[in-house]
Amino acid sequence: MFARHRRLRESNNIRALVRETVLRPEDFIFPIFVVEGENIKEEISSLPGNYHWSLDRLNEIIKEVEERGIKGVILFGLPEHKDEIATSAFEENGIVQKAVRKIKELVPELWVITDVCMCQYTSHGHCGIICDNKVDNDSTLEYIAKIALSHAKAGADMVAPSDMMDGRVMAIRNVLDENGYAHVSIMAYSAKYSSAFYGPFREAAHSAPQFGDRKTYQMDPANIREAMREIEEDIAEGADIVMVKPALSYLDVIRWARDRFDVPIAAYSVSGEFAMIKAGAKMGLINEKAIAMEMLLSIKRAGADMIITYHALDAARWIRKDE
Ligand code: PBG
Repeated sequence: MFARHRRLRESNNIRALVRETVLRPEDFIFPIFVVEGENIKEEISSLPGNYHWSLDRLNEIIKEVEERGIKGVILFGLPEHKDEIATSAFEENGIVQKAVRKIKELVPELWVITDVCMCQYTSHGHCGIICDNKVDNDSTLEYIAKIALSHAKAGADMVAPSDMMDGRVMAIRNVLDENGYAHVSIMAYSAKYSSAFYGPFREAAHSAPQFGDRKTYQMDPANIREAMREIEEDIAEGADIVMVKPALSYLDVIRWARDRFDVPIAAYSVSGEFAMIKAGAKMGLINEKAIAMEMLLSIKRAGADMIITYHALDAARWIRKDE
């Protein structure tokens, strides 16, 4: 006797009945890039189908997000001015702060997450303060906390530090609590790897480092036990949600994290993952929808509770149409 596994694959209906993992529009968080200026909806060449939005046209994309059933967005800002200390990242009228207020005006219940980092705002393109040609951990914490607080003041629901400095979750939690923002939550980019998959994003966000690389703060792709220590520390410091990033090449990290920790886990399917699908589809080598959905499914199957993805709007539409 041998097992007849194929019995449960016989038809669409039985396959639906035994399906273990199902994608929903609610699983996705959509990244939005906001810029200064007026009447701007400019396609990002490295992320086809994604745009730089000026605030006066933000309503167009927010409406689509709502219509698709997406519950959360994460904001990335492109400021007009960069300097050594990322001043425009923590100004009351910085681009992200204005965008948060605008979105909260348009759709108060949409869950607004802000990326808290310095690299788009520093002249040197690093995620922290430079001292002696190095990214200095402890002086950066003060700035990261300031940025997070300014986002909370603008009305952000959740702040997401992506700088990878040690102690940043605690620094942010403290400053939020001391200023009356105990209700604002933290999604920590906990296991953020130093990855070539961020290439298209750095073009989109003008955030490539002007010297060196990010290997002294982002993680070595070779390490998984270290990722568990990062996650454990961020939870201890007060992270509400922890993140693994990138997703596709790090499904094992997601699974280890899922098996070890009970907090919600986010996975960031990054720009390079998206761009590879787009490029392959454009060349006629792969089917965009089928590949994207299989990839997203695998990220969820690995253990992610939510997925940040540039495919969020398309995937939500594809799910609805399949129903
Ligand atoms: C900022 C930040 C980056 C990404 C998200 N936040 C770039 C980086 O660390 O170089 C990458 C996102 C993507 O590739 O889609 N630190």
